[in-house]
Amino acid sequence: MPKITAQGKTIDCESGANLRQVLLDNGIDLYNGASAVINCHGLGTCGTCAVAISGTVSEMEWREKARLSVFPHSVDRGRRLACQVQVLDDIQVTKFDEFWGQGDRKIWTAQG
Ligand code: FES
Repeated sequence: MPKITAQGKTIDCESGANLRQVLLDNGIDLYNGASAVINCHGLGTCGTCAVAISGTVSEMEWREKARLSVFPHSVDRGRRLACQVQVLDDIQVTKFDEFWGQGDRKIWTAQG
């Protein structure tokens, strides 16, 4: 059973679980500011659920790649859209600042 470590919490989940859903179900602050209300609720279109992930998750598919290719994101920055990610093994998650989570300053890390 994979373990997700995010914002100082360690959460067990099923292999293949949707990262966004697990984080929200466990009270992790996935969204920055107003994006907690203004988001696409997991459709993969808004880009506000972007995080950095260390560990094994599903490969990026076309929808996620398409959104991360559009400003202010960039596919080469190593961010993933939590709503498009299936957790496959133990992972550590980091959230960055700015509305879409595209910034350079860490809001929280795996440790807190
Ligand atoms: S919640 Fe909108 S892209 Fe993930």
